[in-house]
Amino acid sequence: MARGKDYTVSLDVGTNTLKGVVVSREQTGQMVLEAYGSVKTVGLDKGEVKDAVALKQSIQKLIEELTGQMGKKDVEADFRISFTDGDYSVFSENIEEILSEEKQVMVTEKTIQNLISRLKTEKMKTGNTNIHRSYIRKYILDADKVVFNPVEMYARKLDVEMVFVSSEGKSVEIFRRLFEELFGRGDFLISPALISASEAVLTDTEKQHGVVCVVLGHSFSEIVIYKENLPVYISRIPLGIRHIVLDVARVLGTSVDEAERLLVNYGHCSMYPPDPEDVVEYFGLDERTRKNVSVRRLSTVIYARVKELLNKIRKEIQLFVINNPEYSEERIPGGVVFTGGGSKLRGLTDVGVESLKMPVRIGTYETSFNRRIENSHDVSNDPIFSSCLGNLVSPEEVQGEILESAVERPKKGFGSFIKSLFFGGVDDEL
Ligand SMILES: Nc1ncnc2c1ncn2[C@@H]1O[C@H](COP(=O)(O)OP(=O)(O)OP(=O)(O)O)[C@@H](O)[C@H]1O
Ligand SMILES: [Mg+2]
Repeated sequence: MARGKDYTVSLDVGTNTLKGVVVSREQTGQMVLEAYGSVKTVGLDKGEVKDAVALKQSIQKLIEELTGQMGKKDVEADFRISFTDGDYSVFSENIEEILSEEKQVMVTEKTIQNLISRLKTEKMKTGNTNIHRSYIRKYILDADKVVFNPVEMYARKLDVEMVFVSSEGKSVEIFRRLFEELFGRGDFLISPALISASEAVLTDTEKQHGVVCVVLGHSFSEIVIYKENLPVYISRIPLGIRHIVLDVARVLGTSVDEAERLLVNYGHCSMYPPDPEDVVEYFGLDERTRKNVSVRRLSTVIYARVKELLNKIRKEIQLFVINNPEYSEERIPGGVVFTGGGSKLRGLTDVGVESLKMPVRIGTYETSFNRRIENSHDVSNDPIFSSCLGNLVSPEEVQGEILESAVERPKKGFGSFIKSLFFGGVDDEL
């Protein structure tokens, strides 16, 4: 077994594709990609678990692929997981803490920790709220002095402005239970796929000055807007690549799999694709009849749906600007960064600029300034892996984000994890 290295397994459970990477971290902090893979997700429908047995089997298939690449090494690893859940929102909260009625007292780390955990507990108690991330916008000492770190400063009263990414509803619980059965209680860190993807691809400058990150996934397109290093708005449009694939299948009279193959290999989102007269062959619904379609026709079908999607994204951004007059579109200078599998659509940048009237770029882990991962060229340049790699960005590297009181999670042997998938603790009645 290799010494002096820490291993992290990161899984991103997408509604279409399950992605996984294994990364080792040397004592020096250097990260190396040890294994990666993706398999089709089975058992999920539009983000909801419909067949827990099938979902576990697809996770198992991915883990086998990863362990195969790792060779015989039975390593202890830390597990990080992200998945798509629709109910995310951002809210901010101000807390006031009277430290002393009389003279000023010194603020300590403990003061801050107590305050934050008290607030989190209060929030968690109210119904189904799950807090996923918490950030501090600022501290105000004695209603007057704004600081980023109040520790070792003196005050009678401390105000804290906090921002939370939370979700409502049961789906997080269902996923958590499923993962607990797989990994053992509490042995993993769950992140919202949307936040992980944006942390993977955005630069600090974009997050500071204002940027919209759009994750084009299979069933949904999710939007998060950052300003001053904080997520300030989250929303989701129930339109994704799946809808483009379904359009192609319907118009061309073919199966969903054939339509996806055509989209991925030959499609452009443009009325004027390169080589428009090129003809592509595909099978009809009977899987025997050969049919033909020109690249122009295929691309026109794709373009129509992408335009609809971009119009919806534009409306979302406008809605945000209207409801938050302190932001104008010019005050989102980073424009729109697309990531997720759908951002691989050919021609997306051009049609994006045309429809959104903002700067547009495609974001991958490689385009951010996150810590480099050696040997990872194939995944760090692939927007499909954004959430999976974003899970590796630790909170201490994200400005403003609050550390989860440095609790060491017990590491789990890769081998024992596989065992639990095959034999142990698998309770299939979810
Ligand atoms: N080159 C390509 N052009 C267009 N679409 C592509 C391309 N490659 C992959 N896709 C599409 O990207 C989607 C998969 O992307 P991704 O893995 O980000 O989705 P997911 O994480 O499974 O979904 P979600 O985030 O909604 O849960 C599939 O629908 C696939 O058809
Ligand atoms: Mg995804």
